[in-house]
This record gives sequence, structure tokens and C-alpha cells, in this order.
Amino acid sequence: MAQQVNNETTPSTPGKLKPDKPHHRFRIHPPHSRYTFICILLSAFLVFLLFSTFNPPPPSTTAPRRVLGDSWGGSHWERLVSKSTRRNSASNKIVLVTGSAGFVGSHVALALKRRGDGVLGIDNFNRYYDVNLKHARQKLLERAGIFVVEGDINDGTLLKKLFDVVPFTHVMHLAAQAGVRYAMQNPNSYVHSNLAGFTVLLEACKSANPQPAIVWASSSSVYGLNSKVPFSEKDRTDQPASLYAATKKAGEGIAHTYNHIYGLSITALRFFTVYGPWGRPDMAYFFFTKDILKGKQITVFESPDGGSVARDFTYIDDVVKGCLGALDTAKKSTGSGGKKKGSAQFRVFNLGNTSPVPVSKLVAILEKLLKVNAKKRVLPMPRNGDVKFTHANISLAQREFGYKPTIDLETGLRKFVKWYLEFYSSGSIKKGSSSW
Ligand SMILES: NC(=O)c1ccc[n+]([C@@H]2O[C@H](COP(=O)([O-])OP(=O)(O)OC[C@H]3O[C@@H](n4cnc5c(N)ncnc54)[C@H](O)[C@@H]3O)[C@@H](O)[C@H]2O)c1
Repeated sequence: MAQQVNNETTPSTPGKLKPDKPHHRFRIHPPHSRYTFICILLSAFLVFLLFSTFNPPPPSTTAPRRVLGDSWGGSHWERLVSKSTRRNSASNKIVLVTGSAGFVGSHVALALKRRGDGVLGIDNFNRYYDVNLKHARQKLLERAGIFVVEGDINDGTLLKKLFDVVPFTHVMHLAAQAGVRYAMQNPNSYVHSNLAGFTVLLEACKSANPQPAIVWASSSSVYGLNSKVPFSEKDRTDQPASLYAATKKAGEGIAHTYNHIYGLSITALRFFTVYGPWGRPDMAYFFFTKDILKGKQITVFESPDGGSVARDFTYIDDVVKGCLGALDTAKKSTGSGGKKKGSAQFRVFNLGNTSPVPVSKLVAILEKLLKVNAKKRVLPMPRNGDVKFTHANISLAQREFGYKPTIDLETGLRKFVKWYLEFYSSGSIKKGSSSW
């Protein structure tokens, strides 16, 4: 995971990188001529100009490549926004999808558009992982008629503008700083997107009129060090093992507050290790594939007691169905313009596969599909935030909106490997790629 990220560009405070301030240590020693004094003043001014216009490299996980106001606004931009959010006559939904250039966001946005909903994306295209992959997903969305606004969810002015232009009925909030281990390198990126950004988004939703219903991605990581399996929504979630998990857990608390005070209808979905075509390069199934094909050694972790590490791998299409099910059963928010008018729906669902698979089995399937033997080394799992296993109880989602995962790991990985080989051999997306 960490290898995706350039440590040198990691900011301590995302989005807040500022150039070093020059130290002005000029002292005028008389007697100097008036001319020398003017020269010194001029040089000082030039030095000041140089430093104040110096543009620092963009931080690795927040990527406002353009200056605020440059990348959005204007009549052309508004036309793109309006066109993207046009819906079919049969649909009653206009959905803002945050993190739409991401793995899950791009799949969900396309599924919504395909069935006729109005869809607008927003993404900051940060550099946590290969930004070309995000742009390739964006291209697919554009081809389907979905406009992705380049912006950060921390930009309250932009969000207000979007809600002024479009009466969104729903927000599918999938933008976040994902990944467990990266939190040890860049903790502030988690605070920036998962706490501050989420709050700015909820502020915009609460003030909107009409208020949208919100469905957002929490994570199975909130179950932390729990050992009771399968994980049920009723289980305790107060022992996070990583900062990522802690920000998702805090997000659930923040969401509850906005539901309670402002009448926002909010549904949290706890995803369990989502995988599939167009996936995330920082996830094991993805970088194992890359390294096995390159003949590079891969590290497979086992738990400290020598047991296997297992994950409830969930195929992307199953997760998309769960997201749409949650969206379709979400009740309306009850407030308007920042005022609560009655109590509103608040829900939490697991979206997993209910069949954990050891990571060693994942590797064996990849070896079979890639027809290459992996060079493995087995090491005890370091304390970097990962947990030993995850296993979802999905009966609540099943009852509420018929959630029923159907893709087993081998079938799903076959689809992933097909996509991977196509995408990386052509170096770009093929028109009409079969992976969607
Ligand atoms: N993929 C999984 O296995 C998994 C598991 C549990 C939870 N989740 C959650 O699901 C959601 C989607 O995950 P994903 O796997 O698609 O991750 P992803 O990193 O591919 O997608 C997230 C997208 O959000 C964007 N983003 C991040 N911060 C932003 C900000 N401040 N403003 C605007 N855009 C921002 C990123 O550029 C990225 O494109 C996330 O909330 C993640 O935490 C994912």
C-alpha cells in the first residue's frame, strides 16, 4: 500500500501546504547613500515576490491542482452540471456521487446513470494512488454522460453552488481517504477527508432545500479488535485498530448528530474488502497481481499466533447492488434549509459476502488465473492497523432491501484479472470494455 505513495510529497496538513516564509533580516546601517537604500528595498521586494508566488508541489492526497474558482463556475460549467443531472422520466432521483473517480464511486455512478437517474460526480483526484486510473474512470463516466466536478468536499462554497444549481434528492458519499496502513504515514489526510470533508458535506446537505437523503460508505474496519463473528451491526465498534477505522467510526457519530439535529436521512454502509475491475491499486489482490506478473516476491501475512489472515472479499457488483438498494429504500430527509421538521431515518448496514477467505487462498486463486507461481514469503502481521479477519452478518441488509451477494472469490477475481490484463496491456481503456 505504502509503495503507491511518494513520502516526500506527503503533507503534514493536507491542502494547507504553504511555501516557507522568507526571513527578513535586513538592517539599514547608516550612513548609506539613498541609492543603496533604494536598491536594498527593491531587492527585498523582489525576494518577497519570488517567495510569495512560489508554488509548492501539490500534496500527495489532496490535489487541488487548480486555484479555487479556476476549475469550476461559469455558464459552460453550469450547463455541464445541469446536463449530467438530467434524469429519465421514469426516475425520481438526482444523485450527487462523491468520490466518483474512485473505485466504488465510478461503478455506482455508472449503475445509477444506466437506470436513468440524474448523476453528478465530484472528486479531488488526489494522488494517493495512480491518478491516471482515476482519469481513465472519469473518461468512462463522461462517455456515459456523467460530469465529474474536480473539487474537494472541503470546499463548502463549491458544494453550496452545486446545491443551488441542482435539487439533489440523494447524496451517495463515497469520497474518503481509504486504506489502513497509509494512516501511519499521513494521518492528516484521514482527518481532512473523512472528518472535516464529511462535516462540510453534511453542512451543505443540511442547509439545502430540499435536503437530500444521504447514503455513505463507512467500513467493516469499525469492528476493530472484535473477535465475535460474524460481525453484526449491533456489535461494539469502540475498539478501532487503525486511524482509518477511527475516522469511519467518528463519521458514524457525526452522521448521527446531523440526523438528530437537522432531520437528515442518513444510511451508513459498512463495506467489507470490495474488489473487482477498476479496483484500487493499494489493495492486496491488486498489487499481488501486479507483483506476481512481474516475478516480484509478495509478502503474505499470517496472524501472530500462526493462524491465517482472512477477509470477507465482496465483489464490486454485489456492493453496487447494495448501494442502490440502500438508496432506493432511503426515506426523505425531514428538515429544510437547516431546520428540522421531524425525526428522520438513520440506518447502518453491513455489505459483505459472508464467506471469509484466507489470504493464502486468494494468492492460490491468483496463481491459477495468472498461470504463474508466486514467490511468497510469509511473515507475522505487523501492527499497522490491519485486523486478523473480517466476516459480515448481512441479514439486516437482506431484510431491508434484499441484499444477496452472488459472486464467489474465484469468479470475481477472474473478472478482475481479465480487466487488469486488458487495461494494462493496452495502456488505456478500450472502447466498450466488457468489464462494465
Ligand atoms: N474498497 C473497499 O474495500 C472499501 C472497504 C470499506 C470501506 N470503503 C469505503 O468506500 C468508499 C470508496 O472507496 P474506494 O475503494 O472506491 O476508494 P477510492 O480511493 O478508490 O475512492 C475514493 C475517491 O474519493 C476521492 N477523494 C478523497 N478525498 C476527497 C476529498 N476530500 N474531496 C473529493 N474527493 C475525494 C479520491 O480521489 C478517490 O477517487 C470510501 O469511503 C472507503 O473508505 C471501501
